[in-house]
Amino acid sequence: MLNEILNLQFVKITLSSPKAKAEYDKISIRPVRIKGKDCFQAERFSDNKVFHLNVEKADFEGFLSEILPLYAQVCVFTVGKTVTFFSGKGKIKRSESKNDLKGDVNLSNNREKDYILKEGENIPALVDLGVFTQDFKVVKSKYDKYRQINRFVELIDDECGKIGKDQITILDFGCGKSYLTFIVYYYFAVIKGKKVKIIGYDLKKDVVLNCNKIARKYGYENLEFVVADVKKDVLYEEEIDVVISLHACDTATDYALNYAIKKGVKNIFSVPCCQHEINLSISKGGDMDSLLKYGIIKERVSALLTDSIRAMILEDMGYKVDVIEFVDLAHSPKNLMIRAKKTRGEKRVNAPEIERLQSLYGFKQTLYELAYKD
Ligand SMILES: C[S@@+](CC[C@H](N)C(=O)[O-])C[C@H]1O[C@@H](n2cnc3c(N)ncnc32)[C@H](O)[C@@H]1O
Repeated sequence: MLNEILNLQFVKITLSSPKAKAEYDKISIRPVRIKGKDCFQAERFSDNKVFHLNVEKADFEGFLSEILPLYAQVCVFTVGKTVTFFSGKGKIKRSESKNDLKGDVNLSNNREKDYILKEGENIPALVDLGVFTQDFKVVKSKYDKYRQINRFVELIDDECGKIGKDQITILDFGCGKSYLTFIVYYYFAVIKGKKVKIIGYDLKKDVVLNCNKIARKYGYENLEFVVADVKKDVLYEEEIDVVISLHACDTATDYALNYAIKKGVKNIFSVPCCQHEINLSISKGGDMDSLLKYGIIKERVSALLTDSIRAMILEDMGYKVDVIEFVDLAHSPKNLMIRAKKTRGEKRVNAPEIERLQSLYGFKQTLYELAYKD
């Protein structure tokens, strides 16, 4: 059986019907590519929890030979054919059936272009959060959010993969129901097996309570949620590697950015939302007046000006900044991400231009007020 399995170009192997000595109820194995290396990822299910193990190609035969005797049923899925082995009473029965898996098996070895978190992947916390159905399908109304979060995680991973530390600490400002927070934790702690500490902050007590309950239920020890007003409360004081915020309301984003600046946080990923402040305080006074004439245009220009100013301030504070459309506009009208990486010291190059605009148009901008003060 072992040799035949190793010679099959499989998409997935499942081991079920555990025998007495098996530690897990079921194991599912698929080929993956991690950091350019062909590996196999084993998802091991026990008591409604899933434990991931990545096995390098060279170790795979040994790994498989250890676990095969522990399960009575082994199904090997290849493109078009499923081979099933059933062992009982000292004999192994083998059967074959057709399946409708399509495509090139090599594609399943190289899943880098897929979503980082697959639909159908066993992530029980997402069922509790209402993002997945009981059978791990994305709930229709949550599809856009799921897509945004996948992209967000991909972008964080690109940068955080480069942080050469044993443990990374991430703060999430305005975490709300915390789909993003849970998924970031799951991705780093469970899939990548990295030591990660994540704290989500939000004003809403009931939501925070529920998130902590779910985190404890799944044994996510370093995932914590705290009731806090990020505009005034004392937050985490130790070293922080990454600050994230997804649609933190209005000036809550400014406080998140300022916190990151003041703590010298290396990586920031912030998707702003409801940028009301400039819209409410701006008045005519210069060449831009025709953009302030019609309500909806004024609102959009104000939002863009807000994010431009935030990006310019981050540059002054020593960050290399990109403003990117992190998902397609069709999936969220609030689709601009400010991505910043601390690369040097402070240099106030943009401040005079921000001050010039402020004196012409009379608007207020919170990050400007906070960041340039010591
Ligand atoms: C639009 S929701 C986004 C939630 C989550 N990040 C997401 O994308 O699903 C904004 C969240 O920010 C929180 N929030 C707003 N102002 C805050 C503040 N000053 N301190 C902490 N949380 C705040 C709100 O309670 C709300 O849950």
